[in-house]
Amino acid sequence: MSAPSPFQRPRRLRRTAALRALTREIHLSAEQFILPLFVHDGQGDQVIQTMPGVLRHDLAGLLNRAQEAWELGIQSIVLFGIPAHKDALGSGAHAEQGIIQRAIREIKVRFPEMTVIADTCLCEYTEHGHCGPLVPDGQGGWTVDNDAALPLLAQTAVSQARAGADIVAPSAMMDGQVGAIRTALDAAGFEHVPVMAYAVKYASGYYGPFREAAGSTPSVGNRASYQMDPAGGYREALREARLDVKQGADYLMVKPALAYLDVLRVVRDAFDLPLVAYNVSGEYAMLKAAAAAGMLDEKRTVLETLIAFRRAGADAIMTYHALDAARWLREDA
Ligand code: PBG
Ligand code: ZN
Repeated sequence: MSAPSPFQRPRRLRRTAALRALTREIHLSAEQFILPLFVHDGQGDQVIQTMPGVLRHDLAGLLNRAQEAWELGIQSIVLFGIPAHKDALGSGAHAEQGIIQRAIREIKVRFPEMTVIADTCLCEYTEHGHCGPLVPDGQGGWTVDNDAALPLLAQTAVSQARAGADIVAPSAMMDGQVGAIRTALDAAGFEHVPVMAYAVKYASGYYGPFREAAGSTPSVGNRASYQMDPAGGYREALREARLDVKQGADYLMVKPALAYLDVLRVVRDAFDLPLVAYNVSGEYAMLKAAAAAGMLDEKRTVLETLIAFRRAGADAIMTYHALDAARWLREDA
């Protein structure tokens, strides 16, 4: 007996490229990308071994890279500074002539229309590599002092806004950081500067390459007492997001993105704020390494991955693939 001929044939809608494009739901374009850039307080661009294609720029190199991005239609960047000197309190993070403050000013002069996002944290500026100052934990070890970090983070955000940052993005995972920053920005006359909250940020092995790039690996301990437990689940993710919304967050972020697509979707469905996916350094390194080894088609898999963030509910995507992806989208247009 022969099988009945199928009455429903979804393949009818996939027959040609034009038919597939006609009802496609997910779209990717360069203006949805935020390109992360590293700038160090020294001379020359430096190679980052763990992130092929990404450089630690000097100020001149940063401007060249920003120009390249702008010409490809990427209108947003997020800046990470690597100072010449670190100290216990991370005071370089809010120095008037700090590397990040100078970088923001130079970019805004050259590209006034570019959205410049400043990562607001202390770990690149503290000698111990933690996101806030350390205090003895009373058991012979150290812990990050949450409430001592708040004024430092607030001061950092204000100095970044004063330098011309369009958005500040606190990533330290200190309780109350969004509220402290919002209050300080408002008091300093920066009511118009939005806070992009790293609201749902996990303690992740996928940050490894970034920490090499930024020289921010903790010298003692790890970040598990402030970043989230990957096994924490949706209730904790929603609670973290809700706290940041209450404190005045303008954007929510989920980080990392690829191993947390489900969290992106859950946060998307629970809140109406714009949502950002941070496609982190280790996720980038993974695809780069596989492509370099000839194991994967880089263009196909990168674009497929970026589509996945959009499908999971992200409005914007922070990604080190932004330059390549913008080039590929142009090629295919
Ligand atoms: C610093 C910060 C980190 C990243 C962004 N901001 C590292 C960390 O939390 O250890 C990671 C980004 C990446 O891996 O691409 N607070
Ligand atoms: Zn940090």
